[in-house]
Amino acid sequence: MASPLILINFKSYREGAGNNAGQIGTAAELVMQESGVTIGVAPQFTELHPFCKHYEIPVYAQHIDPVEGAFTGRVPAFTVRAAGCVGSLINHSERRLTIADIEATVAAAKFHHLESVVCTNNAAVSAAAALFAPTYVAIEPPELIGSGISVATANPEIIQSSVEGVHRVNPEVKVLCGAGIQSGECVKKALELGADGVLLASSVVKAKDPEAVLRDLISKI
Ligand code: G3P
Repeated sequence: MASPLILINFKSYREGAGNNAGQIGTAAELVMQESGVTIGVAPQFTELHPFCKHYEIPVYAQHIDPVEGAFTGRVPAFTVRAAGCVGSLINHSERRLTIADIEATVAAAKFHHLESVVCTNNAAVSAAAALFAPTYVAIEPPELIGSGISVATANPEIIQSSVEGVHRVNPEVKVLCGAGIQSGECVKKALELGADGVLLASSVVKAKDPEAVLRDLISKI
């Protein structure tokens, strides 16, 4: 069976920039190499190219736009691919898109050979997102994001119903879950509920010792 994906979103946290970002990248690479568990990172845009150059870990953008040409201030999918990324988050709770934009963005990701991780807020939207056949649907209840309360314990039903809804539409689409994920126990529960991995941010990015948190996250897989 393929390794689960532990995907760390650096968001716009100050702790996810500069030297701190490098510390997280180094820790992710070390823990991935030692454990064989896939640890992906979604750093800030300015870090994408250096991260792809320096670390042997999958790097994702936090957002892409399905555009090229005369557009200003956008993140064209092809530039993210050229930087060396493997994929991108799409429709994160903090960067919502219209349904038409989600469809066009997943299509742009596919065209440029990028994995797509479409974030959703409930089971119905998870099933709807699966219609676009992204690589992953990532269910994240917005009220638990950044709360320190794990979706795996506070709302296991939403994980289970998203997995069922997504697989009813398209069994090939993998499912991540996120919001408040912070420990090996959270990851274990998420996988038991049928998820293929987790999407998380604050517990790693804001940690004093990101390597210790990463080691704990993969400890029960
Ligand atoms: O993208 C991951 C995120 O929205 C979850 O954030 O801080 O609750 O792990 P956090």
